[in-house]
Amino acid sequence: MIKIGNKIKNIIERDKRVIMPTTREVFPFVPSHGKNDIVYDIEGNKFIDFSSFISVYNFGIGNEYIVNAIREQANKLIHAAFTDFYGVEQVEFAEKLIKFMPNGFGKVFFSNSGTEANEAAIKFARLLNKRYYIIGFYNAFHGRTYGSLSLTASKAIQRAHLGPFVGSIHVPYPYPYRFKYGDEDECTNYVIDFIEENIINKEYSSDEIAAIMFEPIQGEGGYIVPPKNFFRELRKIADKYGILLIDDEVQAGYMRTGKFLALDNFNTKADIYTFGKSAGGGVPIGITVTSNKLGTIPEGSHANTFGGNYLAIAGANATIEYINKNRFTLEREIKKKGEIIIKRLLEMQNKYELIGDVRGIGLMIGIELVKNKYTKEHAVKERDEVIKNAFYDGLLLLPAGKSSIRIIPPLTVSYENIEKGLEILENSIKKVNFKLK
Ligand SMILES: Cc1ncc(COP(=O)(O)O)c(C=O)c1O
Repeated sequence: MIKIGNKIKNIIERDKRVIMPTTREVFPFVPSHGKNDIVYDIEGNKFIDFSSFISVYNFGIGNEYIVNAIREQANKLIHAAFTDFYGVEQVEFAEKLIKFMPNGFGKVFFSNSGTEANEAAIKFARLLNKRYYIIGFYNAFHGRTYGSLSLTASKAIQRAHLGPFVGSIHVPYPYPYRFKYGDEDECTNYVIDFIEENIINKEYSSDEIAAIMFEPIQGEGGYIVPPKNFFRELRKIADKYGILLIDDEVQAGYMRTGKFLALDNFNTKADIYTFGKSAGGGVPIGITVTSNKLGTIPEGSHANTFGGNYLAIAGANATIEYINKNRFTLEREIKKKGEIIIKRLLEMQNKYELIGDVRGIGLMIGIELVKNKYTKEHAVKERDEVIKNAFYDGLLLLPAGKSSIRIIPPLTVSYENIEKGLEILENSIKKVNFKLK
């Protein structure tokens, strides 16, 4: 049982006085240190990590290969204006990254976060396609700076009173669990027809639309996995009208689903890919990669001070080398661990009314909580309670969407901690399920 002592209370009290509120109201967690899939707070409470701190620690807290590389680089050089000068490590990293991309991808741009990677993608699409509008999806989260926020539409609070936004158009994302008019194929057709008929051929003209930006699995929006054929169909209408596809791999990429690119699970290629979160091994980084056939942006049209800084690139190089060295083991293990978790969650779904849906690929797994399996009414308070109970029993979980919970441990999570974590989760669900009317 986790104990919240005076050290934690003191920090939270002081935080409320001097730190701008963000999103941290879920539970009183003040981390201190950790190793792989275990993390301790400042009072010594021990937690199993099923959050990987929002898919940043994909390869475990304190991964020695990555941490040593960052430490060594910090002693040599942290920053040297990569915008203006050349750099060995940056070129080496880009060369390694391109090997993980589809054929024909060759231009890499560095920034400092997921939102900046998407800002760059938006600008590049407009500059290179010479069109203005970008189509995004409801429930999408692409970041909070203005370009990315314009495409984000996952919660009203993120956009309220902040408009006007930048040339964005929103359309429904295929959400099989909540689609009322048929099976997965019909769900795909509904969205594709909506885009083609209402947006491309009615409200706008196709030659005004630069790109469609999407997450291969929606993250913040609720861990929503689209139908298998959706992106292939999206590719077809994009090609038909000369529209580019921007794939935001910030949360789903970097092996999270068992493949380097989450979009590869759908056998489709995009024109621009973006990365962030785990790509720097914990050091902030944003990466935007474009297809060679798009050409290059005019020199001076986009840049930033810290993009490609040596510390982030050291983390990025070590991370990609770690993946390269362990690729086959990682692929096999992620699949196996994901299957164990899904199997167990499906068993829980059979037992508890509260679990409406279980979905995911690899170790990007979500459960959607409902008050009633038939009406599918969102169990919002119940979801928060499940997460809170689990926290006090030593398991870190994060919410997603209206009433979902994400299960995203480090990809290096041990089998023992998967079992222990699922045990805590089930106990918590059982308690809350018992209270359902
Ligand atoms: C899919 C996706 N894109 C972009 C972002 C924004 O990344 P950042 O918070 O690093 O700006 C996030 C963050 O959660 C994300 O999940």
